[in-house]
Amino acid sequence: MEKKRKGFSTEAIHGSTVKDQYGALVTPIYNTSTFVFDSTAQGAARFAQEEEGYIYSRLGTPTCTALEETLAKLEGGEAALVTATGMGAVTATIWTCISAGQEIIADKTLYGCTFEFFEHHLSRFGVKVHFIEMADEEELKATLNENTRIVYLETPANPNLKIIDIEKTASIVHAYNPEIRVICDNTFSSPVLQRPLELGADIVLHSCTKYINGHGDLLAGVVVSDKQTIHDILMIGIKDMTGAVLAPNEAFLVARGLKTLEVRMQRHCESAMKIARYLETNDKVEKVFYPGLESHEGHEIAKKQMDGFGGMVSFIVKGGREKAAIVADNVKVATLAVSLGAAETLLEHPGSMTHSPLTEEELEAAGIAPGLIRYSVGLENVDDLIEDLKQAFEKI
Ligand SMILES: Cc1ncc(COP(=O)(O)O)c(C=O)c1O
Repeated sequence: MEKKRKGFSTEAIHGSTVKDQYGALVTPIYNTSTFVFDSTAQGAARFAQEEEGYIYSRLGTPTCTALEETLAKLEGGEAALVTATGMGAVTATIWTCISAGQEIIADKTLYGCTFEFFEHHLSRFGVKVHFIEMADEEELKATLNENTRIVYLETPANPNLKIIDIEKTASIVHAYNPEIRVICDNTFSSPVLQRPLELGADIVLHSCTKYINGHGDLLAGVVVSDKQTIHDILMIGIKDMTGAVLAPNEAFLVARGLKTLEVRMQRHCESAMKIARYLETNDKVEKVFYPGLESHEGHEIAKKQMDGFGGMVSFIVKGGREKAAIVADNVKVATLAVSLGAAETLLEHPGSMTHSPLTEEELEAAGIAPGLIRYSVGLENVDDLIEDLKQAFEKI
Protein backbone atom coordinates (compact mmCIF):
# COMPACT_ATOMS: atom_id res chain seq x y z
CA MET A 1 0.00 0.00 0.00
CA GLU A 2 1.32 3.45 -0.88
CA LYS A 3 2.38 5.44 2.20
CA LYS A 4 0.17 8.50 2.63
CA ARG A 5 2.14 11.72 2.30
CA LYS A 6 1.95 14.06 5.25
CA GLY A 7 0.77 17.64 4.83
CA PHE A 8 3.26 20.26 3.67
CA SER A 9 3.78 22.07 6.98
CA THR A 10 4.04 18.78 8.90
CA GLU A 11 6.94 17.75 6.63
CA ALA A 12 8.45 21.26 6.71
CA ILE A 13 8.54 21.11 10.52
CA HIS A 14 9.28 17.39 11.11
CA GLY A 15 10.86 16.28 7.81
CA SER A 16 14.40 15.64 9.02
CA THR A 17 15.61 12.42 10.66
CA VAL A 18 18.84 13.99 11.98
CA LYS A 19 18.97 13.45 15.76
CA ASP A 20 21.03 15.51 18.15
CA GLN A 21 22.92 13.46 20.76
CA TYR A 22 21.61 15.68 23.60
CA GLY A 23 18.02 15.63 22.39
CA ALA A 24 17.85 19.25 21.18
CA LEU A 25 14.45 19.98 19.61
CA VAL A 26 16.04 21.86 16.70
CA THR A 27 19.08 20.57 14.79
CA PRO A 28 22.01 22.64 16.12
CA ILE A 29 24.47 24.65 14.07
CA TYR A 30 27.47 22.38 13.60
CA ASN A 31 30.09 25.05 13.13
CA THR A 32 33.11 22.96 12.27
CA SER A 33 35.29 22.77 9.22
CA THR A 34 36.23 19.12 9.68
CA PHE A 35 35.23 15.88 11.48
CA VAL A 36 37.39 13.64 13.65
CA PHE A 37 38.19 10.07 12.55
CA ASP A 38 38.63 7.26 15.11
CA SER A 39 41.44 5.75 13.03
CA THR A 40 43.21 5.97 9.68
CA ALA A 41 41.18 2.97 8.60
CA GLN A 42 37.95 4.83 9.36
CA GLY A 43 39.12 7.96 7.49
CA ALA A 44 40.08 5.81 4.49
CA ALA A 45 36.72 4.00 4.59
CA ARG A 46 34.82 7.29 4.58
CA PHE A 47 36.84 8.67 1.67
CA ALA A 48 36.27 5.42 -0.21
CA GLN A 49 32.53 5.85 0.52
CA GLU A 50 32.49 2.43 2.23
CA GLU A 51 31.38 3.90 5.54
CA GLU A 52 28.79 6.61 6.11
CA GLY A 53 29.83 9.63 8.13
CA TYR A 54 31.03 13.19 7.85
CA ILE A 55 34.53 14.01 6.57
CA TYR A 56 34.97 17.72 5.87
CA SER A 57 32.30 20.43 5.77
CA ARG A 58 32.56 21.02 1.99
CA LEU A 59 31.02 17.53 1.75
CA GLY A 60 28.26 18.15 4.27
CA THR A 61 27.36 18.85 7.90
CA PRO A 62 24.47 17.55 10.04
CA THR A 63 22.83 21.02 9.91
CA CYS A 64 22.80 20.90 6.11
CA THR A 65 21.71 17.24 6.05
CA ALA A 66 18.64 18.07 8.18
CA LEU A 67 17.62 20.82 5.76
CA GLU A 68 18.33 18.64 2.71
CA GLU A 69 16.18 15.78 3.97
CA THR A 70 13.27 18.15 4.53
CA LEU A 71 13.59 19.91 1.17
CA ALA A 72 13.83 16.57 -0.69
CA LYS A 73 10.52 15.47 0.87
CA LEU A 74 8.82 18.79 0.12
CA GLU A 75 9.83 18.67 -3.56
CA GLY A 76 9.03 14.94 -3.85
CA GLY A 77 12.63 13.99 -4.71
CA GLU A 78 14.92 11.25 -3.42
CA ALA A 79 17.66 13.62 -2.29
CA ALA A 80 18.63 17.28 -2.07
CA LEU A 81 21.81 19.30 -1.88
CA VAL A 82 21.91 22.77 -0.35
CA THR A 83 24.26 25.33 -1.85
CA ALA A 84 25.72 28.72 -0.97
CA THR A 85 23.40 30.63 -3.32
CA GLY A 86 20.83 30.01 -6.02
CA MET A 87 23.54 30.61 -8.64
CA GLY A 88 25.61 28.01 -6.78
CA ALA A 89 22.77 25.54 -7.37
CA VAL A 90 22.49 26.50 -11.07
CA THR A 91 26.22 26.39 -11.84
CA ALA A 92 27.05 23.26 -9.78
CA THR A 93 24.22 21.41 -11.53
CA ILE A 94 25.11 22.54 -15.03
CA TRP A 95 28.87 21.89 -14.63
CA THR A 96 28.03 18.36 -13.45
CA CYS A 97 25.62 17.53 -16.28
CA ILE A 98 27.32 19.03 -19.34
CA SER A 99 30.57 18.64 -21.30
CA ALA A 100 32.18 20.47 -24.24
CA GLY A 101 30.40 19.70 -27.50
CA GLN A 102 27.06 19.13 -25.81
CA GLU A 103 24.05 21.44 -25.98
CA ILE A 104 21.44 23.04 -23.74
CA ILE A 105 18.00 24.23 -24.79
CA ALA A 106 16.69 27.01 -22.55
CA ASP A 107 13.66 29.25 -22.60
CA LYS A 108 14.31 32.86 -23.66
CA THR A 109 13.12 34.24 -20.33
CA LEU A 110 15.47 33.45 -17.46
CA TYR A 111 16.87 35.17 -14.39
CA GLY A 112 19.55 37.62 -15.67
CA CYS A 113 22.61 35.86 -14.20
CA THR A 114 21.44 32.42 -15.39
CA PHE A 115 21.06 33.94 -18.86
CA GLU A 116 24.50 35.50 -18.64
CA PHE A 117 26.09 32.21 -17.49
CA PHE A 118 24.43 30.36 -20.40
CA GLU A 119 24.91 32.97 -23.10
CA HIS A 120 28.30 34.50 -22.33
CA HIS A 121 30.23 32.01 -20.19
CA LEU A 122 29.28 28.42 -21.07
CA SER A 123 30.05 29.25 -24.69
CA ARG A 124 33.71 29.78 -23.67
CA PHE A 125 33.82 26.09 -22.70
CA GLY A 126 32.39 24.71 -25.94
CA VAL A 127 28.79 24.35 -24.75
CA LYS A 128 26.11 25.65 -27.10
CA VAL A 129 22.88 27.07 -25.67
CA HIS A 130 19.77 27.50 -27.82
CA PHE A 131 17.29 30.05 -26.45
CA ILE A 132 13.80 29.22 -27.64
CA GLU A 133 10.14 29.84 -26.90
CA MET A 134 9.71 26.69 -24.82
CA ALA A 135 5.92 26.84 -25.02
CA ASP A 136 6.21 26.48 -28.81
CA GLU A 137 6.08 22.70 -29.21
CA GLU A 138 7.32 22.79 -32.81
CA GLU A 139 10.31 24.98 -31.95
CA LEU A 140 11.26 22.66 -29.09
CA LYS A 141 10.98 19.56 -31.29
CA ALA A 142 12.97 21.22 -34.06
CA THR A 143 15.77 22.25 -31.67
CA LEU A 144 16.23 18.88 -29.91
CA ASN A 145 19.17 17.01 -31.41
CA GLU A 146 21.66 14.26 -30.63
CA ASN A 147 23.89 16.67 -28.67
CA THR A 148 21.11 17.98 -26.39
CA ARG A 149 21.78 17.06 -22.77
CA ILE A 150 19.76 19.64 -20.80
CA VAL A 151 16.43 21.41 -21.29
CA TYR A 152 16.21 24.32 -18.84
CA LEU A 153 13.25 26.44 -17.82
CA GLU A 154 11.78 28.71 -15.15
CA THR A 155 8.04 28.83 -14.52
CA PRO A 156 6.73 31.32 -13.56
CA ALA A 157 9.73 32.95 -15.19
CA ASN A 158 11.72 35.87 -13.86
CA PRO A 159 10.74 38.68 -14.41
CA ASN A 160 7.60 38.52 -16.59
CA LEU A 161 5.92 35.46 -15.01
CA LYS A 162 5.72 33.53 -18.26
CA ILE A 163 4.21 30.07 -17.64
CA ILE A 164 5.57 26.91 -19.26
CA ASP A 165 3.74 23.58 -19.20
CA ILE A 166 6.23 21.38 -17.32
CA GLU A 167 4.45 18.08 -17.96
CA LYS A 168 4.10 18.69 -21.67
CA THR A 169 7.70 19.91 -22.06
CA ALA A 170 9.11 16.93 -20.12
CA SER A 171 7.05 14.45 -22.13
CA ILE A 172 8.20 15.90 -25.48
CA VAL A 173 11.85 15.92 -24.35
CA HIS A 174 11.79 12.42 -22.84
CA ALA A 175 9.96 10.96 -25.84
CA TYR A 176 12.85 12.25 -27.95
CA ASN A 177 15.54 11.00 -25.53
CA PRO A 178 14.91 9.92 -21.93
CA GLU A 179 18.54 10.71 -21.04
CA ILE A 180 18.06 14.46 -21.51
CA ARG A 181 17.68 16.22 -18.14
CA VAL A 182 14.75 18.58 -17.81
CA ILE A 183 15.79 21.14 -15.20
CA CYS A 184 13.24 23.49 -13.67
CA ASP A 185 14.02 26.56 -11.57
CA ASN A 186 11.10 26.57 -9.10
CA THR A 187 12.16 29.69 -7.16
CA PHE A 188 9.05 31.77 -7.95
CA SER A 189 6.58 29.07 -6.86
CA SER A 190 8.27 27.32 -3.96
CA PRO A 191 7.32 23.65 -3.43
CA VAL A 192 4.11 24.78 -1.72
CA LEU A 193 2.65 25.82 -5.07
CA GLN A 194 4.43 23.61 -7.60
CA ARG A 195 6.46 20.38 -7.56
CA PRO A 196 8.12 19.96 -10.98
CA LEU A 197 9.50 16.45 -10.27
CA GLU A 198 5.92 15.17 -9.95
CA LEU A 199 5.24 16.71 -13.38
CA GLY A 200 8.13 14.91 -15.08
CA ALA A 201 11.15 17.21 -14.56
CA ASP A 202 14.40 15.44 -13.63
CA ILE A 203 16.01 18.14 -11.52
CA VAL A 204 14.46 21.04 -9.62
CA LEU A 205 16.43 23.90 -8.16
CA HIS A 206 15.80 27.06 -6.15
CA SER A 207 17.30 30.21 -4.92
CA CYS A 208 16.41 29.62 -1.23
CA THR A 209 17.38 33.27 -0.77
CA LYS A 210 13.76 33.93 -1.78
CA TYR A 211 10.57 32.24 -0.49
CA ILE A 212 12.11 29.13 1.08
CA ASN A 213 14.05 31.18 3.62
CA GLY A 214 11.59 34.05 3.31
CA HIS A 215 13.21 36.62 5.54
CA GLY A 216 15.56 38.46 3.19
CA ASP A 217 18.52 37.90 5.52
CA LEU A 218 20.76 35.41 3.70
CA LEU A 219 21.72 33.75 0.40
CA ALA A 220 21.18 30.03 -0.22
CA GLY A 221 20.19 27.51 -2.89
CA VAL A 222 19.09 23.91 -3.30
CA VAL A 223 19.01 21.18 -5.97
CA VAL A 224 16.59 18.23 -5.67
CA SER A 225 16.66 15.08 -7.81
CA ASP A 226 17.35 11.33 -7.61
CA LYS A 227 20.10 10.08 -5.25
CA GLN A 228 22.70 9.41 -7.95
CA THR A 229 22.31 12.83 -9.57
CA ILE A 230 22.57 14.63 -6.21
CA HIS A 231 25.63 12.56 -5.31
CA ASP A 232 27.24 13.50 -8.63
CA ILE A 233 26.46 17.21 -8.16
CA LEU A 234 27.99 17.07 -4.66
CA MET A 235 31.15 15.26 -5.79
CA ILE A 236 31.66 17.18 -9.05
CA GLY A 237 29.74 20.48 -9.13
CA ILE A 238 30.23 21.35 -5.47
CA LYS A 239 33.34 19.51 -4.22
CA ASP A 240 35.56 20.12 -7.24
CA MET A 241 34.06 22.73 -9.55
CA THR A 242 32.42 25.53 -7.54
CA GLY A 243 32.88 24.92 -3.81
CA ALA A 244 29.53 26.68 -3.41
CA VAL A 245 28.77 25.10 -0.04
CA LEU A 246 26.07 26.37 2.30
CA ALA A 247 27.45 27.33 5.72
CA PRO A 248 25.77 25.68 8.77
CA ASN A 249 24.66 29.08 10.14
CA GLU A 250 22.73 29.78 6.95
CA ALA A 251 21.34 26.23 6.82
CA PHE A 252 19.96 26.70 10.34
CA LEU A 253 18.19 29.93 9.36
CA VAL A 254 16.76 28.45 6.15
CA ALA A 255 15.40 25.48 8.16
CA ARG A 256 13.80 27.95 10.55
CA GLY A 257 12.23 29.99 7.73
CA LEU A 258 11.01 26.83 6.01
CA LYS A 259 8.70 25.96 8.90
CA THR A 260 6.41 28.87 8.02
CA LEU A 261 6.69 28.59 4.22
CA GLU A 262 3.18 27.29 3.67
CA VAL A 263 1.46 29.98 5.77
CA ARG A 264 3.62 32.69 4.24
CA MET A 265 2.81 31.51 0.69
CA GLN A 266 -0.92 31.57 1.43
CA ARG A 267 -0.66 35.24 2.46
CA HIS A 268 1.66 36.11 -0.48
CA CYS A 269 -0.85 34.56 -2.92
CA GLU A 270 -3.90 36.27 -1.41
CA SER A 271 -2.31 39.71 -1.39
CA ALA A 272 -0.76 39.32 -4.86
CA MET A 273 -4.18 38.51 -6.34
CA LYS A 274 -5.66 41.69 -4.82
CA ILE A 275 -2.76 43.80 -6.04
CA ALA A 276 -2.95 42.32 -9.55
CA ARG A 277 -6.70 43.06 -9.69
CA TYR A 278 -6.09 46.63 -8.51
CA LEU A 279 -3.36 47.14 -11.13
CA GLU A 280 -5.72 45.89 -13.86
CA THR A 281 -8.05 48.80 -13.04
CA ASN A 282 -5.24 51.38 -13.10
CA ASP A 283 -5.29 53.33 -16.39
CA LYS A 284 -1.59 54.19 -16.07
CA VAL A 285 -0.76 50.49 -16.37
CA GLU A 286 -0.39 49.04 -19.86
CA LYS A 287 -0.33 45.37 -18.85
CA VAL A 288 -0.35 43.27 -15.68
CA PHE A 289 1.35 39.87 -15.52
CA TYR A 290 -0.02 37.59 -12.81
CA PRO A 291 -0.74 33.91 -13.52
CA GLY A 292 -3.90 34.13 -11.39
CA LEU A 293 -5.52 36.65 -13.75
CA GLU A 294 -7.80 35.28 -16.46
CA SER A 295 -6.04 37.73 -18.82
CA HIS A 296 -2.68 35.99 -18.30
CA GLU A 297 -1.64 33.92 -21.31
CA GLY A 298 -0.56 31.01 -19.09
CA HIS A 299 -3.55 31.11 -16.71
CA GLU A 300 -5.02 27.72 -17.71
CA ILE A 301 -1.64 25.96 -17.48
CA ALA A 302 -0.93 27.65 -14.16
CA LYS A 303 -4.30 26.43 -12.83
CA LYS A 304 -3.36 22.90 -13.88
CA GLN A 305 0.19 22.73 -12.54
CA MET A 306 0.19 25.13 -9.56
CA ASP A 307 -1.65 25.04 -6.22
CA GLY A 308 -1.75 28.84 -6.06
CA PHE A 309 -0.45 31.64 -8.26
CA GLY A 310 2.37 33.02 -6.12
CA GLY A 311 3.44 36.34 -4.69
CA MET A 312 5.07 37.92 -7.75
CA VAL A 313 3.26 40.50 -9.89
CA SER A 314 4.85 42.32 -12.81
CA PHE A 315 3.38 45.25 -14.70
CA ILE A 316 4.24 47.58 -17.54
CA VAL A 317 3.80 51.26 -16.74
CA LYS A 318 2.51 53.32 -19.71
CA GLY A 319 5.19 55.67 -20.98
CA GLY A 320 8.15 53.32 -20.65
CA ARG A 321 11.17 53.39 -18.40
CA GLU A 322 10.92 57.04 -17.34
CA LYS A 323 7.35 56.67 -16.01
CA ALA A 324 8.12 53.30 -14.42
CA ALA A 325 10.98 54.97 -12.55
CA ILE A 326 8.56 57.54 -11.08
CA VAL A 327 6.47 54.73 -9.56
CA ALA A 328 9.55 52.86 -8.33
CA ASP A 329 11.08 56.00 -6.81
CA ASN A 330 7.93 57.05 -4.97
CA VAL A 331 6.70 53.95 -3.15
CA LYS A 332 6.94 54.29 0.62
CA VAL A 333 5.72 51.00 2.08
CA ALA A 334 7.32 48.87 -0.65
CA THR A 335 11.09 49.08 -0.96
CA LEU A 336 13.14 49.64 -4.09
CA ALA A 337 15.50 46.66 -4.05
CA VAL A 338 16.24 43.53 -6.07
CA SER A 339 15.47 40.05 -4.67
CA LEU A 340 12.04 38.73 -3.74
CA GLY A 341 10.12 36.40 -1.47
CA ALA A 342 10.77 38.35 1.74
CA ALA A 343 8.35 39.66 4.37
CA GLU A 344 9.12 43.13 2.98
CA THR A 345 7.52 44.06 -0.34
CA LEU A 346 10.32 44.69 -2.83
CA LEU A 347 10.06 46.21 -6.27
CA GLU A 348 12.64 46.65 -9.00
CA HIS A 349 13.10 47.63 -12.63
CA PRO A 350 14.43 44.48 -14.39
CA GLY A 351 15.66 46.35 -17.50
CA SER A 352 18.17 48.36 -15.46
CA MET A 353 18.72 45.96 -12.55
CA THR A 354 18.33 42.14 -12.45
CA HIS A 355 18.26 41.81 -16.23
CA SER A 356 20.69 44.61 -17.08
CA PRO A 357 23.26 42.12 -18.50
CA LEU A 358 20.87 41.64 -21.44
CA THR A 359 21.22 43.83 -24.53
CA GLU A 360 18.16 45.75 -25.74
CA GLU A 361 17.52 43.06 -28.36
CA GLU A 362 17.85 40.30 -25.77
CA LEU A 363 15.46 42.13 -23.42
CA GLU A 364 12.93 42.42 -26.21
CA ALA A 365 13.32 38.73 -27.14
CA ALA A 366 12.82 37.77 -23.48
CA GLY A 367 9.64 39.87 -23.29
CA ILE A 368 11.04 42.44 -20.83
CA ALA A 369 9.53 45.81 -21.75
CA PRO A 370 11.30 49.08 -20.81
CA GLY A 371 8.38 50.03 -18.53
CA LEU A 372 8.26 46.68 -16.72
CA ILE A 373 8.30 46.69 -12.91
CA ARG A 374 8.69 43.48 -10.92
CA TYR A 375 6.82 43.60 -7.62
CA SER A 376 7.37 40.98 -4.91
CA VAL A 377 4.34 41.15 -2.66
CA GLY A 378 5.41 40.92 0.98
CA LEU A 379 3.49 40.12 4.13
CA GLU A 380 2.41 43.67 5.01
CA ASN A 381 -1.25 44.67 5.12
CA VAL A 382 -2.44 44.52 1.51
CA ASP A 383 -4.59 47.67 1.76
CA ASP A 384 -1.49 49.61 2.81
CA LEU A 385 0.35 48.24 -0.23
CA ILE A 386 -2.44 49.25 -2.61
CA GLU A 387 -2.65 52.75 -1.07
CA ASP A 388 1.12 52.99 -1.43
CA LEU A 389 0.97 52.11 -5.14
CA LYS A 390 -1.89 54.59 -5.69
CA GLN A 391 0.07 57.50 -4.22
CA ALA A 392 3.19 56.51 -6.25
CA PHE A 393 1.16 56.40 -9.51
CA GLU A 394 -0.27 59.85 -8.69
CA LYS A 395 3.28 61.24 -9.02
CA ILE A 396 3.28 60.46 -12.76
C1 LIG B 1 14.65 32.58 -10.60
C2 LIG B 1 15.98 32.76 -9.94
N1 LIG B 1 16.89 31.78 -10.00
C3 LIG B 1 18.11 31.91 -9.43
C4 LIG B 1 18.47 33.06 -8.78
C5 LIG B 1 19.84 33.19 -8.18
O1 LIG B 1 19.76 33.09 -6.81
P1 LIG B 1 20.83 33.72 -5.79
O2 LIG B 1 20.69 35.19 -5.85
O3 LIG B 1 20.43 33.12 -4.48
O4 LIG B 1 22.18 33.27 -6.25
C6 LIG B 1 17.57 34.12 -8.69
C7 LIG B 1 17.94 35.38 -8.01
O5 LIG B 1 17.25 36.37 -8.07
C8 LIG B 1 16.27 33.96 -9.28
O6 LIG B 1 15.37 34.94 -9.23
